[in-house]
Amino acid sequence: MTNKITEIPFRGTPEQEAQLKEVIAQHKGQSGAMMPVLQKAQEIYGYLPIEVQTMVAEGLGVSLEQVYGVSTFYSWFTLEPKGEHLIRVCLGTACYVKGSADILAELERQLGIKAGHTTNDGKFTLEATRCLGCCGLAPVMTIDDEVYGRLVPADVKGIVDKFRA
Ligand code: FES
Repeated sequence: MTNKITEIPFRGTPEQEAQLKEVIAQHKGQSGAMMPVLQKAQEIYGYLPIEVQTMVAEGLGVSLEQVYGVSTFYSWFTLEPKGEHLIRVCLGTACYVKGSADILAELERQLGIKAGHTTNDGKFTLEATRCLGCCGLAPVMTIDDEVYGRLVPADVKGIVDKFRA
């Protein structure tokens, strides 16, 4: 059992660390420095793992609890890396009434993760989303730029398998 949100190892580079240190140096001592620093940190790393939160806390001279509190409070911060492929399932009204919740449940089963998470191999991130603008195809999901419509749960495995290779 682990308390970590993800098993995907942190792969920060020295260049990213240097960039983050520069951002911290620019904001250190200013009031309200944490938000812009965390926003920049997420731009640099793509997410805010505990290793990055620790660097921000040490750099700004605040506690890790404070950094963690801000990182988890605002929905635009993410503590998990994005997977290689982004799967989005529409839960907008037209898709929902045509069974998109069952599509999402099947994806969760196939991938072994809940919506909002990334598989441990870093391959897939699964998200539930609002209307994707192609209601005529309901129920709809997208994988990266590909749109899949008029789905039934039995379609899911075959589609996902194409992206596993
Ligand atoms: S409700 Fe799903 S695409 Fe519009």
